Amino acid sequence: MDPNLLILGGTTEGRSLCTVLADAGVHGTVSMAGRVARPAPQGMPLRVGGFGGAEGLARYLRDNAITHVIDATHPFAAQMSCNAIAACAETGVPLLAYTRAPWQPEAGDQWTHVADIAGAVDALKGPRKRVLLAVGRMHLSDFTVNPQHAYVLRLVDPPSEALGFPEATVIVDRGPFTLEGDRALMEEHGIDLVVSKNAGGKGAEAKIIAARQLGVPVIMIDRPAIPPRTEAHSIDDVKRWLGHALTDLGV
Ligand SMILES: NC(=O)c1ccc[n+]([C@@H]2O[C@H](COP(=O)([O-])OP(=O)(O)OC[C@H]3O[C@@H](n4cnc5c(N)ncnc54)[C@H](OP(=O)(O)O)[C@@H]3O)[C@@H](O)[C@H]2O)c1
Repeated sequence: MDPNLLILGGTTEGRSLCTVLADAGVHGTVSMAGRVARPAPQGMPLRVGGFGGAEGLARYLRDNAITHVIDATHPFAAQMSCNAIAACAETGVPLLAYTRAPWQPEAGDQWTHVADIAGAVDALKGPRKRVLLAVGRMHLSDFTVNPQHAYVLRLVDPPSEALGFPEATVIVDRGPFTLEGDRALMEEHGIDLVVSKNAGGKGAEAKIIAARQLGVPVIMIDRPAIPPRTEAHSIDDVKRWLGHALTDLGV
């Protein structure tokens, strides 16, 4: 039987994986939550929107005769990842998480680790700073309790409503970002504090390297816990996992 993949996407890494597998003739669909107005081309047919929890995902897997699920979501998309674990367990569809290692501090880094968004909000109590707040759109309103700072916000889409910060510069851009670009951005805005999720990977790493080079401290939000599952860290490992199905296709 030919593989019929469901790839849970929404990441630069997921997009690369879809492109490579599609170029190799592997059939599949990529799924995105619908948070971004104009998703970048994914190389595979795209479906958009939630499934309706783990039950809804299990139904989707059955209805669409999905043979394999690859979870290539962002490491902070813990709900989706837990739903995938539950739905695949229920339906018997094999699940692989295509993950990236978290960033590790290096010489010159000044990281304060916090457990979650609430911890980052707490860590921003105190005197005024010029903050690069690189946490995506979903949790921005949590940070408005610290109105003393000048914020630089980088968002994929222009905000559709007022963000609630007295002083905020919005930059509409999407990754992957370059070190030169992020260094220039931080220098131009006089950034003296970065708030980041520990996403890992290359696409969003530039700001972390720029902060190291410029001696700027980082509030690093650690990853949410996700139950154990089979993981791959490279596209080659994903292909190996797909194994016989891909061999049959000559990949
Ligand atoms: N969280 C981040 O920092 C971050 C950063 C970059 C990109 N992303 C991407 O943005 C998307 C949403 O992230 P999130 O943190 O909001 O997720 P989440 O909190 O884990 O998921 C919340 C709900 O959104 C739906 N959903 C999430 N990812 C989906 C997908 N790929 N396809 C279909 N439905 C999905 C599911 O709804 P139902 O229960 O109805 O199925 C899920 O229960 C993910 O695709 C993720 O890869 C997230």
